[in-house]
Amino acid sequence: MGKIIDGNLISAKVKDEVKNEVEKLKMKGITPCLAVIIVGSDPASRVYVNNKKKACEYTGMKSLEFALPEETSQEELLNLIDKLNEDKQVNGILCQLPLPKSIDEETVLNKIAPEKDVDAFHPLNVGHIMIGDAKLLPCTPAGVVEMLDYSNIDLKGKTCAIIGRSNIVGKPMAMLMVQRDATVTVCHSKTKNLSEITRNSDIIISSAGRKNLITADMVKDGAVVIDVSINRDENGKLCGDVDYENVKEKASYITPVPGGVGPMTISVLMKNTLMATKSQNGEA
Ligand code: GUN
Repeated sequence: MGKIIDGNLISAKVKDEVKNEVEKLKMKGITPCLAVIIVGSDPASRVYVNNKKKACEYTGMKSLEFALPEETSQEELLNLIDKLNEDKQVNGILCQLPLPKSIDEETVLNKIAPEKDVDAFHPLNVGHIMIGDAKLLPCTPAGVVEMLDYSNIDLKGKTCAIIGRSNIVGKPMAMLMVQRDATVTVCHSKTKNLSEITRNSDIIISSAGRKNLITADMVKDGAVVIDVSINRDENGKLCGDVDYENVKEKASYITPVPGGVGPMTISVLMKNTLMATKSQNGEA
C-alpha cells in the first residue's frame, strides 16, 4: 500500500517557517499585508477566502478583505485594484476566481501590479515561471512540488503525466516539473490515449475535475499519484479525480482528498506574500 502524503502536516510546517520569517520582519517594523478581493457570494470562494484570512492570522500577517456585491462593475473592480496597487501598506493582492460573467477575468488579472501578484497569474509572472526565474510561484503547482520534495521523491528523469491544462494548475505545473528534470506529458479532455500515457508514467498529477477519472488499471505499480481536484461524489462527499481506495494499493505515494494538495495552495500563498513583502522592502 502507498504512503499517504499528508498535506495538512506539510502545510503546517511551511506555515510555521513563514511565521518565523514574519516575526523577524516585524522586528524591523515591517508587517506583510495581503488584500483579498471577493466578488459575489459563491460559497466555495467564500470558504477559500476565509481559509486564506485564517492563514494570514496564523502567520502573523495582516489581511484586508474587500467583499464586493455580484453587481460590481468591471470599472469599479479595476479602480479598487489601482488603489491597492498604489497603497504602500499592501504587499500582496489576490482576486478570488471565478469572477461574475460580466467581468473579464484577464483584464482584471492583468491590472494587478506584478510585484503584488501573489497568485502569480499576471503574464509577466507567468513568463518568469516559463523562464524558471520566478520569485512568486504558482500556488497550487508549487504546493505539489513542496509535497514531492518533503517526501524525498526524486523527479530527475522521471516520466510525469499531468492531466488538465488550465492556466492555474496544468500549464504552470508542467513548467515546474520540467525545471525539475522530469519528462512531462500534458493530457486533457481531447487526449486520445490517456490510460496508455498514465500507465507509462512514474508520476501522475491530475487536475481534471472528474471523479473516478484515474482508476487502478491506469496506474503502474509504484507510481506517485497526486490528486489536485476537489469534486463531490454521489453522496455529496468530497473526492478527487483518483479512485483513491483502489489506486492507493498500487501507488508508492498518494495524496488524499481532502487533506492533500488543498492545504498546500494556501501555504504557498503565504510564502509568496512574505516574498513580495521582502522584495518590496529591499529584504530579498
Ligand atoms: N480560484 C480557484 N483557485 C484559485 C486560486 O488559486 N487563486 C484565486 N485567486 N482564485 C482561485
